[in-house]
Amino acid sequence: MGTMTKELPRLVTPVELYREMDRYVIGQERAKKAVAIAAYSHLKRTRARALGTKFSARKSNVLLIGPTGCGKTHVARTLAKMLEVPFVIADATEYTEAGYYGKDVEVMIGELLLAADMDVARAERGIVFVDEVDKIARRSHGAVTGAGSRDIGGEGVQQALLKLLEGRQLFVPTNVTQHWSKHDFVPVDTTDVLFICAGTFSDLHMYSGGTRSMGFNTESGVVRHGRITEKDMLRYGILAEFLGRLPVQVQMSALGEEELLQVLLKPPDSLLREYADLLRMDGVMVRYETSGLKEIVAAALRRETGARGMRAILEDVMSDALFSGPSMSGKTLVVDRDYVSHSLAAAAASE
Ligand SMILES: Nc1ncnc2c1ncn2[C@@H]1O[C@H](COP(=O)(O)OP(=O)(O)OP(=O)(O)O)[C@@H](O)[C@H]1O
Ligand SMILES: [Mg+2]
Repeated sequence: MGTMTKELPRLVTPVELYREMDRYVIGQERAKKAVAIAAYSHLKRTRARALGTKFSARKSNVLLIGPTGCGKTHVARTLAKMLEVPFVIADATEYTEAGYYGKDVEVMIGELLLAADMDVARAERGIVFVDEVDKIARRSHGAVTGAGSRDIGGEGVQQALLKLLEGRQLFVPTNVTQHWSKHDFVPVDTTDVLFICAGTFSDLHMYSGGTRSMGFNTESGVVRHGRITEKDMLRYGILAEFLGRLPVQVQMSALGEEELLQVLLKPPDSLLREYADLLRMDGVMVRYETSGLKEIVAAALRRETGARGMRAILEDVMSDALFSGPSMSGKTLVVDRDYVSHSLAAAAASE
């Protein structure tokens, strides 16, 4: 269907993919490798299809499981930047089964088509990242808590997603950004679309039937759980057919102190560089002391939001300097332990 695009995406080897991801993603070795392999197989499959050669390997859709801020979305985004294939991020909670208020899953592929500049052949070898799949769990077996407010939707959305995951021809709306008219549909085959799904399963303990010892909330209310098994996910309300179409399952763990420090220091686009660049434009030099960075990491660990929380923390730490930057030209800002703790205390007090 559509015109077959002649230029094929370059075959990037798993090692190349891994190395490049490694520059931006700290830790999460298993996830980086699994995603690199899945992406490589995906490239091989799409090439084989385009060249008309046989390719029998099963599609290796991926499921990433891990706590908030550990890098699930970050891994997928980093991968997408490296691959010359269209990529979209979809939030599972925005979709509904047909007939309910919300987006039909066809829209997800419509967005992929948009990312492929409406080139159907390119869209058909794209990658879709489906976030928050744990939030579409079935909750029919008596919701245990208020968290199960999606009694109707969840299972239906999983069912609807199944057909995308297994691959089939869909009639996709071609205008997903505006109110599309009923006639603007184009057939897209999702057989070769790679799906990377992600979820935190953070309230899994409530659905594990009390058989696991992980159901202990820490003081902050965040649960630290061990390995999540397939059985746990089934009990949680993920359909067996759904899991079955996500053969590559990777557990990611919360980033520890050293890793969070590396998140600040290592990536070429790290937050530290970002703020230093901003202030340099005001003529202000920034010197980050290790003691200050450790204080930032300690605050992130307290908030239990992983690397995600560090932006908010740095924003608090740097806000005074950003505010008065232009009048501090020629000076050096020393971000040490005291500076960080004072700024964070001041920010907390002003809330
Ligand atoms: N392993 C990591 N290495 C480097 N940076 C990271 C890592 N994990 C997270 N980050 C940074 O933190 C931000 C938030 O992470 P990300 O969005 O990937 O979290 P997530 O695992 O998807 O969490 P959530 O379940 O809340 O969506 C990223 O944009 C990135 O800047
Ligand atoms: Mg995410």
